[in-house]
Amino acid sequence: MKIYLKTYGCQMNERDSDAMAADLVASGYQMVANESEADVLLFNTCSVREAAERKAKGKIGYLKKLKDRNPDLIIGAMGCMAQRLGRQLLDELPHLDFVLGTGQLHQLVPTLNELAQERGKRLVKTTQSPEIIQALQGHYQNSWSGQIAITRGCNRFCSYCIVPYVRGREISRPMESIISEARQMTERGVKEILLLGQNVAAYGLNGDIRPPEPDHSPFAELLEELEKLPQLLRIRFTSPYISYFNTRLIKTLAASHKICHQLHLPLQSGSDRILQAMNRQYSNASYREKVAELKANISNLTLSTDVIVGFPGETEADFKLTRELMNDIGFEQAYIFKYSPRPGAKSALMADSVPEAVKEERNQILLEDLKTRVEKRLGQLVGETVQVLAEGVSARNASRWTGRTDNNFVVHFEPVPGLTPGQLLDIKITRANVVSLLGEIVR
Ligand code: 5AD
Ligand code: SF4
Repeated sequence: MKIYLKTYGCQMNERDSDAMAADLVASGYQMVANESEADVLLFNTCSVREAAERKAKGKIGYLKKLKDRNPDLIIGAMGCMAQRLGRQLLDELPHLDFVLGTGQLHQLVPTLNELAQERGKRLVKTTQSPEIIQALQGHYQNSWSGQIAITRGCNRFCSYCIVPYVRGREISRPMESIISEARQMTERGVKEILLLGQNVAAYGLNGDIRPPEPDHSPFAELLEELEKLPQLLRIRFTSPYISYFNTRLIKTLAASHKICHQLHLPLQSGSDRILQAMNRQYSNASYREKVAELKANISNLTLSTDVIVGFPGETEADFKLTRELMNDIGFEQAYIFKYSPRPGAKSALMADSVPEAVKEERNQILLEDLKTRVEKRLGQLVGETVQVLAEGVSARNASRWTGRTDNNFVVHFEPVPGLTPGQLLDIKITRANVVSLLGEIVR
């Protein structure tokens, strides 16, 4: 059978989809890139904002016509929205064959086998089974870069967030198992590994939400083990919660030659009142202090963040605090989201008081600030020679290649004969564009 699999949402979903594709292929299924060729249409969905759910539902709804024409077609919804809505999704979408929640993704192959044998059967599987942490380890795409999920779920319960409800309690994968997956990846040619988790820095803390003692960080121990893999050039991770950067972890980051000097530190808001309503465990002042400590210890550090505008009760003054904090820290990248109430999360009980037009206005202001800052920052790199990990032919210009610096800046350059993805190059920056750099290979 031929399978088409579309993914919505975050990198964890991308990773899950890739592992499911590997499972499918190992069981004799074939992955196809076009819906029209497929016998099975799969959607790995997202619930983090309402728009994400609307998109996936709209897409699946639209497929009713296709199913009317071809009743043998199997359609499945998987992942976060599937978990959140469960059986309700089958009621809403009568042409949907099955719903597979976040804790059952490793059951995709048996589920399809079951449906292939009993056409017309409809299935809902949404139990959170802990063995999933060890089950989804395959890699379908073969590339110089690879991802590993080191934790699943989240115990933090930020008031706006649906993740703890749809991805369940936080669990960590055993270190030996992560290292062995990473070793196999590097033996296949992977040069850069991205570690994934809702709160990666809580790795190995058994779900305890209190940040650990200053000298205790299982996450740092994991990073140190990965650092020893000889063929591995770069290590990245996302997303860490800022409160877990203790002395032990900062020391590891500072001493490492492979961990990229780029951190994604979700801020969400710069107002203490809003942070408290969000159930975030830091303040404007403590966030600033931690960033100062990170910058003092890790040379040439760049930072990115997530911010929500228009959280219930957010005033002009609250917004101003967010804007100021963002400008003071000078994030090199930021993802700005307009607040979207998620039924089931605590903040959905608060009035969604900020009008859409105000959310949009605040969103635009922060995007403008960011654009100005990034342009200036990239301009400063002109004339410098930077180390770039080559990724491949540029998507926008087939005569050029792209790659990234350790700080995650995108660089375009003319290739040389024999160049392969995953090679480290010294590149002299000749020009800065709005969001990327242009350069020439020096070595
Ligand atoms: N509304 C808007 N943005 C949200 N995020 C999470 N939940 C919501 C919500 N209800 C954002 C946060 C998080 C990112 C992945 O998505 O900024 O860090
Ligand atoms: Fe959601 Fe907060 Fe957990 Fe991140 S840390 S996944 S924002 S509950």
